[in-house]
Amino acid sequence: MTASLSNHNVMKPKHFLQFKDLELSEFEYLFQRSKLLKARHVKRDLYQPLRSRTLAMIFEKNSTRTRVSFEAGMNQLGGSALFLNSRDTQLGRGEPIEDVAQVISRMVDIVMIRTFEQEIIERFAAHSKVPVINGLTDEYHPCQILADIFTYIEHRGSIRGKTVAWIGDSNNVCNTWMQAAKILDFNLHVSTPPGYEVEPERGESFESMHLECFEDPHEAARGADLVTTDVWTSMGYEDEAEERIQDFADFRVDREMMALAKPDALFMHCLPVHRGQEVEAEVIDGPQSVVWDEAENRLHTQKALIEYLLLGKINK
Ligand code: CP
Ligand code: NVA
Repeated sequence: MTASLSNHNVMKPKHFLQFKDLELSEFEYLFQRSKLLKARHVKRDLYQPLRSRTLAMIFEKNSTRTRVSFEAGMNQLGGSALFLNSRDTQLGRGEPIEDVAQVISRMVDIVMIRTFEQEIIERFAAHSKVPVINGLTDEYHPCQILADIFTYIEHRGSIRGKTVAWIGDSNNVCNTWMQAAKILDFNLHVSTPPGYEVEPERGESFESMHLECFEDPHEAARGADLVTTDVWTSMGYEDEAEERIQDFADFRVDREMMALAKPDALFMHCLPVHRGQEVEAEVIDGPQSVVWDEAENRLHTQKALIEYLLLGKINK
């Protein structure tokens, strides 16, 4: 076979495996593009630049928002989405991730993966001929923070120089906020219980001006523009759930904590939520909460991301 018969080795694809895979100017583009695609969606304008393109979605953990937003988004852009899980594919029988990447990426145009260790998605991407998007790993959840920051901008304008308070577990979502703080130049206050502190290497902003850690969650929330939290037990850590309920008891976001933040502070949670655990119902269902916009914006921001990874910057 001559080289010209195969176009599989021509260009290195652009991936979104961690938030820091993109730079400031690319995020600025994605936020303005998300706004435009959202406005088009609201008006029901047909915009289908990805006709005949396929997104493969590989889920090794449960999902509602990520699955629906990627599948609906790809359909709206004119393409189609394929749902795969480890139980029904050969992944569950031990087929090497490198081989799966080689095969799937010769058949589809873009891949989204939700899995356990970050290393798994990095190995997949290293052997993929098409862009790979992180739909959540144990370490990071970059699509979530893309939507969260877009939501902040919609409600309050630029996040630059603002203060975000993260209360609770130093998990995948927290790690991603740390990377985002450095790139988008905002301050991140993190308060975790003893024994659950952030791993500095995850955010790579520990020594920068962007991250400050607090023992007292109330001090972390004081003066914040946005207060955000997440479940105390992430997927994959279920064995620790009982212990975590004890350890995190003082780290619930309640009205008293919100009162220490700025009067116009927003509240976010990536969902799903356990009302009465990490956040009081009166806060997540209250006037400062923007969690439904935050969830909806997964759709618009990921459409912008898929379009960007496949077609580059578009100005139509
Ligand atoms: N926030 C989020 O990623 O939700 P799902 O787990 O439902 O996809
Ligand atoms: N930190 C949570 C996020 C769920 C969307 C988890 O990993 O389970």
